[in-house]
Amino acid sequence: MASLAVLISLVACAALASGATGVRIELTRVHSSPFVRDAVRRDMHRHSARRLAASGDTVSAPVIEGPSSLGEYLMTLAIGTPPLSYPAIADTGSDLIWTQCAPCGDDQCFQQSTPLYNPANSTTFSYLPCSSQLSICEAASLPACVCPGYNYTYGTGWTSGVQGSETFSFGSSPADETSVSDIVFGCSNASSSDFNGSSGLVGLGRGSLSLVSQLGAGTFSYCLTALQDSNSTSTLLLGSSASLNDTGVGTTPFVPSPDMAPFNTFYYLNLTGISLGTTALSIPVDVFTLAANGTGGLIIDSGTTITSLVDAAYQQIRAAVLSMVTLPTTDGSDATGLDLCFALPSSKSAPPAMPSMTLHFDGADMVLPAGSYMTQDSNLWCLALQNQTYGMPSILGNYQQQNMHILYDIGQETMSFAPADCSTF
Ligand SMILES: *[C@@H]1O[C@H](CO)[C@@H](O)[C@H](O)[C@H]1NC(C)=O
Ligand SMILES: *[C@@H]1O[C@H](CO)[C@@H](O)[C@H](O)[C@H]1NC(C)=O
Ligand SMILES: *[C@@H]1O[C@H](CO)[C@@H](O)[C@H](O)[C@H]1NC(C)=O
Ligand SMILES: *[C@@H]1O[C@H](CO)[C@@H](O)[C@H](O)[C@H]1NC(C)=O
Ligand SMILES: *[C@@H]1O[C@H](CO)[C@@H](O)[C@H](O)[C@H]1NC(C)=O
Ligand SMILES: *[C@@H]1O[C@H](CO)[C@@H](O)[C@H](O)[C@H]1NC(C)=O
Ligand SMILES: *[C@@H]1O[C@H](CO)[C@@H](O)[C@H](O)[C@H]1NC(C)=O
Ligand SMILES: *[C@@H]1O[C@H](CO)[C@@H](O)[C@H](O)[C@H]1NC(C)=O
Ligand SMILES: *[C@@H]1O[C@H](CO)[C@@H](O)[C@H](O)[C@H]1NC(C)=O
Repeated sequence: MASLAVLISLVACAALASGATGVRIELTRVHSSPFVRDAVRRDMHRHSARRLAASGDTVSAPVIEGPSSLGEYLMTLAIGTPPLSYPAIADTGSDLIWTQCAPCGDDQCFQQSTPLYNPANSTTFSYLPCSSQLSICEAASLPACVCPGYNYTYGTGWTSGVQGSETFSFGSSPADETSVSDIVFGCSNASSSDFNGSSGLVGLGRGSLSLVSQLGAGTFSYCLTALQDSNSTSTLLLGSSASLNDTGVGTTPFVPSPDMAPFNTFYYLNLTGISLGTTALSIPVDVFTLAANGTGGLIIDSGTTITSLVDAAYQQIRAAVLSMVTLPTTDGSDATGLDLCFALPSSKSAPPAMPSMTLHFDGADMVLPAGSYMTQDSNLWCLALQNQTYGMPSILGNYQQQNMHILYDIGQETMSFAPADCSTF
């Protein structure tokens, strides 16, 4: 049984290799509005619980009300034999792959748009033995975990069930469909409603349970369309087809992650400074440094919407934006959850022009146009950034990653990126 994990990765590598170019998956969004407020709330809770989870205590995460699954990108994949397709949140900030399973007790599952997967109806389902290296209690260092059950906690919620293994199918068209057997996943029979809008989640983090690790993908990339652009789909590529052919590619090394959960899941980057227009902001050089005890640092996360930065950096940006805009400020925090908002004359007004913001990574500059750091919600025009709780990693969220082709190269331990029109990708 100890060899199960090895076997799984061999099978999966073989599957991706025979597919030659890897897997292409389309991403859609969970729709709702106004998106910013709920996305910000979701983000805040998510992070506070992650920190608690890391302390090794059993925690009860604050659960937020209302439709909270906002600002998320969903990938469609299929589970079982015969395959049942379902939409799942694509999350580089966690590892577990899961879907809701039948039978689900009364009110234990949140509503989903697709039929519930029933393992009893699939010829390829099996329970995961507790001796497996991918048994979640070990693989994710869950507190108070008793195999074969799990309760996996996110800041915005939790999901619990039993681990199994299944055949999964990926691909946005029959032509590039790939099936991979023996993927370890969570068969959830109780979850909080925070994932409403999806039928589960796919972890793309560094841990052994993630889809990236189980496929032995080596590289993956995505190109996220603007959240407000409700018509076009984004793309996720897994495996060798995930390469950047674009012009203007920048490459920066990942910073090694701390060797403890949940930080060992995250992709850390080395951010050395920030400019607004041509002005370098006076941010102390070490504010984004990852400490040996796991505090601080900056991670990139597809499952978080709004970027949060350590306060010393956030306040510099806030002050610089404030000094550039002549519109009156207004308290938009109730409507948007954001801290710095300006009042536009009307909801139809175009906001004033702003220079781009540059994130200076080790070896590469990431240029964010105004639309990637400011956001308009009716007549409110707000800075789409927030400050991070002390000690938590700063997070580069998906709003700031829009219209950028981003490649994670696990083998080279680098992230590459290039500006792109993701709606035509
Ligand atoms: C899972 O953990 C969360 C947070 O600690 C808790 O609220 C929830 O009741 C637990 N679920 C189950 C099924 O034990
Ligand atoms: C789930 O989302 C749908 C559509 O956004 C909404 O109608 C429904 O009330 C939500 N359910 C819960 C429990 O939040
Ligand atoms: C979920 O499944 C586990 C294992 O079969 C069982 O112990 C638990 O009672 C189930 N929970 C619900 C809410 O049905
Ligand atoms: C799946 O199993 C359930 C009972 O567990 C049954 O009601 C349902 O019809 C089955 N679906 C298929 C497609 O066989
Ligand atoms: C979005 O798609 C719908 C249906 O395909 C189309 O009618 C509409 O014009 C599109 N909207 C935009 C902004 O492209
Ligand atoms: C990059 O080019 C290669 C070779 O022409 C191709 O196979 C691959 O699909 C391209 N990747 C992207 C993301 O366009
Ligand atoms: C972690 O290390 C940093 C930098 O050395 C220090 O400032 C901080 O107090 C430490 N935090 C904990 C919880 O040990
Ligand atoms: C971050 O980048 C700076 C500038 O290139 C470099 O001096 C520093 O050693 C890097 N830090 C880490 C942890 O890689
Ligand atoms: C975040 O910024 C707000 C507003 O600028 C400030 O009141 C708050 O103290 C800051 N929080 C932290 C954790 O630094």
